[in-house]
Formats: sequence, C-alpha cells, structure tokens
Amino acid sequence: MAKKAKQRKSPVHAAITGVHGYLPPDVLTNADLARMVDTSDQWITERTGIKERRILKGEGLGTSHMGAEAVRGLLKKTGTAPEDVELLICATTTPDFVHPATANLICDMVGIHGIGSFDVQAACSGFVYALTVAAQFIRAGAYRKIVVVGADKMSAIVDFTDRATCVIFGDGAGAVLVEPSRKFGIIDTMIRSDGSGMRYLHQPAGGSRMPPTAETVAKRMHSVHQEGASVYKFAVAGMTEVVSGLMKRNHLKNDDVDWFVPHQANKRIIETTADRMDIPMQRVMMTIQKFGNTTAATIPLSLWDYESKLKAGNRLLLAAFGGGFTWGGIYLTWAYDGSHRR
Ligand code: UT7
Repeated sequence: MAKKAKQRKSPVHAAITGVHGYLPPDVLTNADLARMVDTSDQWITERTGIKERRILKGEGLGTSHMGAEAVRGLLKKTGTAPEDVELLICATTTPDFVHPATANLICDMVGIHGIGSFDVQAACSGFVYALTVAAQFIRAGAYRKIVVVGADKMSAIVDFTDRATCVIFGDGAGAVLVEPSRKFGIIDTMIRSDGSGMRYLHQPAGGSRMPPTAETVAKRMHSVHQEGASVYKFAVAGMTEVVSGLMKRNHLKNDDVDWFVPHQANKRIIETTADRMDIPMQRVMMTIQKFGNTTAATIPLSLWDYESKLKAGNRLLLAAFGGGFTWGGIYLTWAYDGSHRR
C-alpha cells in the first residue's frame, strides 16, 4: 500500500509557461493631463502613484489590435505555432464590438483558426476570472495549450473631461500561455462578485438597458462613472479577503509568498493591501507608475514586466478587484526561470 501511495502521480496543474505584453507607443503624461483638466502631476502621483500611461491611437484600432500584438509575441517567444493553440480566452471590458467577441477577432488576426474562443467580462478582475476558467479546462484534460489574454482600450470609454476618472486609466494588453504541468502551476483560485456594487462603478449607457441615443451621447453616459472613494474601500477589503483567504486555505505565511501580483488600480490600494497581509513592498509587483490602470491587462503586464526576476517554483499570489463588483485571487507556482519559457 505504502509503495502504491508513493508512486501516485501529483495532480495536473495549469501552469503559465510564457507571458508577453503589448503597450501602444503613445505616452500620455500627468503633465499632458494637467493641460486637459484641472489636475496636477503632484495630485495624480500622490493619490494614485501614476506618472504616465499609454493610449492606443489610430483609426480603426481597437482592443483586438493590442491583444493580437501580445499573442503574436507570446507565440513567437514560446515557439508555439498558431495551429497548436486549442483555446483562446480574452478578458476585456472594452471589446471592439458588442459582438462578435474580441477573442474571435484576435484568433483571426494571428492566424488561429477553427478553435473555441470567447470573451470573459469581469472588468478589472477579468484576467483572474479568465485564468481561472482556463485552469478548469487544463485540469479536466480537455485542452493542453490555452492562450489567456487580458486587454483593454480604456481610452475608448474614459471621459477626458472628468478628472476623477481620466487620470487613472491607460491602454494595454498581456497574454499568457497555459499548459498542463505536474510540477508547477495554479494551486488554488477564488472568484467573487456582488452586483449591488454596480452603482459605484459602471458605464451607464450602450447596453440593452439603455441603448445609445443622441441624448446618452450628449450626457456622456458611454464612459466610466466611478465613485472613487467608495470603490477604494471595497477594493482594499475585497483584495485583502481573497489574499488572506488563499493564504489561510493553503497554509501560507507571509514569508512563503515570493511575489504579490495585485491589480494595478491605485498605488495606495496596493500598499494598504500588502501592509495588511504583512508582505514587504520588495515582493510586490508595481507597474502602475508607467502603465496606469489597464483594467484586465494589469496583471499579465506586471508578470511580463517582472518575468526576468521570476524563478521556477516561486510562489505568486494574484489578486484583483473591479467593476461588477468582481474580485478574485489565484495562488500559483511559477513554472520557469527568467525569460526562458521552461
Ligand atoms: O480598477 C477598478 C477599480 N477602481 C479602483 O480601484 C479605483 C479606486 N479609487 C481610487 O483609486 C481613488 O478613489 C481615486 C484615485 C479615483 C480618487 O482618489 P481619492 O483620494 O479617493 O479622491 P476623492 O475622489 O475622494 O476626491 C478628493 C478630492 C475632491 O475634491 P474636494 O471635494 O475634496 O474638494 C476631488 O474633486 O480630489 C478632487 N479630485 C482631483 N483633484 C485633482 C478628484 N480627481 C482629481 C484630479 N486632480 N484628477
């Protein structure tokens, strides 16, 4: 019996085996914003930690353009042929169209044909949700190569006359390859939602409840409306809940966490959450200063930015909070050293 138990194989994990990102070249600095609305570099830096963000310019370019760039780079660096990808999931709140899904468009743009692809809409928690979905397909043995994209063109839904929201957001995309592994990968996930939070953070018009009219456009109802201070409190509470929940469930002490990978909404939210969890800032990924809040893209962009520092076996805690409300976290072990995939 003992011998049999020893030989038992460990369960299959869904491991991230590559990451890539794309940021559009146009930079919007705090100084640029101060020329557009009544704000200052000092206010934005002190209240959010953001110094600059990227904006996707160019006629006819939507979220799919950035997602496709990230996926092209991912396939190239991991040596993956488009025909080997078995499923593509795109987390976005700024799809190119209400339909078809942005995932369908990305597949077509990068030469992936005839597979399943769909969007996941969970606002800033979108990447955590999409990666959680991908992990189930891998664990079930349904697919062996899944691409998960987090991409948002927030500049398309931001009101650049509203200083309370326009300073926070930016555009970008990140993508990861997810494959089965018996050694490393996703160990635990936690996703949460509360639709009653809608009033604090939403885009009022453009959906089936309030289809677009000349009036909704004139009233700027097609952009993000946020009660920042309320969302701030819910975000700290939600991120702390999932991080502490995952740590408790997996018997992790703060020293066991090699990297905390939070959604980049506000430097102060990240610092407060890390402080509550007693995780020192040297082990917290921080990219908000240069990319702003790119919604579903912040976590894959952070993983991409820090990729060279990561080592196989590193324990990572991902956590996000966003519109919905939605929030969630993932505990995983990193699958490779530095910029090499395996
Ligand atoms: O990622 C999805 C989830 N979203 C979030 O997690 C965002 C969470 N919220 C936040 O990050 C912060 O609430 C904000 C960065 C959005 C705002 O920071 P805050 O410290 O909560 O400011 P506030 O909204 O309480 O406003 C404080 C003051 C107000 O002026 P009064 O009423 O005190 O005179 C605002 O009008 O700051 C004013 N203000 C600004 N001043 C200069 C608001 N935006 C600006 C601005 N520049 N851009």
